Amino acid sequence: MRALVVAGARPNFVKISPLLRAFRRYRDVETLLVHTGQHYSKAMSAVFFRDLEIPLPDVNLEVGSGSHARQTGEVMKRFEPVVGKFRPDVVVVVGDVNSTLACALTAAKLCVPAAHVEAGLRSFDRTMPEEINRLLTDQVSDFLFATEPSAVRNLRREGIPGRKIHLVGNIMVDALRYYLPRATRSGARQRLGLAVGGNRKAKDYILLTLHRPSNVDDGQRLRQILRVVARLGEHCPVIFPVHPRTRKQAAAAGLDAMLRGGSVRAIAPLGYLQFLDLLSRARLVLTDSGGIQEETTALGIPCLTLRDNTERPITVTMGTNQVVGTDPERIWRAATRVLERGQSRRRVPRLWDGRTAERIIRILRREVR
Ligand code: UD1
Repeated sequence: MRALVVAGARPNFVKISPLLRAFRRYRDVETLLVHTGQHYSKAMSAVFFRDLEIPLPDVNLEVGSGSHARQTGEVMKRFEPVVGKFRPDVVVVVGDVNSTLACALTAAKLCVPAAHVEAGLRSFDRTMPEEINRLLTDQVSDFLFATEPSAVRNLRREGIPGRKIHLVGNIMVDALRYYLPRATRSGARQRLGLAVGGNRKAKDYILLTLHRPSNVDDGQRLRQILRVVARLGEHCPVIFPVHPRTRKQAAAAGLDAMLRGGSVRAIAPLGYLQFLDLLSRARLVLTDSGGIQEETTALGIPCLTLRDNTERPITVTMGTNQVVGTDPERIWRAATRVLERGQSRRRVPRLWDGRTAERIIRILRREVR
């Protein structure tokens, strides 16, 4: 079997690392890696290849940034000849970014089966670009690998035949379990002064991430969020690795000063190992990322999601996640409650056990012709 594995943006790299490692264990599987170049900065791409031991891509489409139509269209145009040249038996796409949809659609039009890892998640909010990517990717894919039972139900409701759907667990947890010991040794917390003398005198801190267009492209909303986070920072230090989109939008809205000094410590985006070290010891995580809701659930760290919905409901019903929206008072109340009372460790969902990549490769080897 020849598999063409695609990755384009930061969260994709975390998901392909365990997949590639599992694929390479089989002599009868030939794997080729395509990087679309959607993310290209060292901090958003190369650092992840290094930390997650991903081999250099066989092909880099170098599409770069652009509007949705431009970026998606450019990936399709450049990916089509690659599929023609390598003639894979399956194209594997992960997550919900523009590169995911572009490559799944290109494969489908060329009658090459597409496998979607992280299928079926739905926020039911079509103003989110990722929701459109998820819906369409799942419609054109032949193998739908789901992380949680709600995703299986969503796919069935959309008329996808049961034989295409496989509940395999969460591939990000494969990476998390594999790299957690190395992350702890990375010294990220020591460098930021958050741990003195190993882990014994660990300091409390809140970890914040923010990059969803609905939160950061609207200057007024971004200001409100940063204000309430600054108030929280007076009780417990806040560490904020800033995504390039957020940095750009904060500057455009005249909010740079809120990222300089004060009780919120804004730092450059972190690599995978350094971020995982910070995540695994945080007292509380505030985020609008999808993946971080899952990682905090796997780690048992309290998480407040600064959005009105989640496509990952199991992180709320079983895990440590609370969806609190963006109303500053609601964020304040939920955060201070966690800081005062803590939160008991919740359960980790079934199949989030570090063996998802192995389940995927077994199914593909059995079913791809
Ligand atoms: C993309 C994904 C989003 C994912 C996020 C993770 C889509 C629609 N969005 O959003 O689902 O959660 O990645 O990070 O696919 N930029 C850089 N360097 C880079 C990449 C981007 O500086 O390597 C800057 C550019 O100014 C760019 C902006 O960030 O215009 C946004 O990048 P883009 O890839 O369009 O979307 P993200 O917000 O990163």
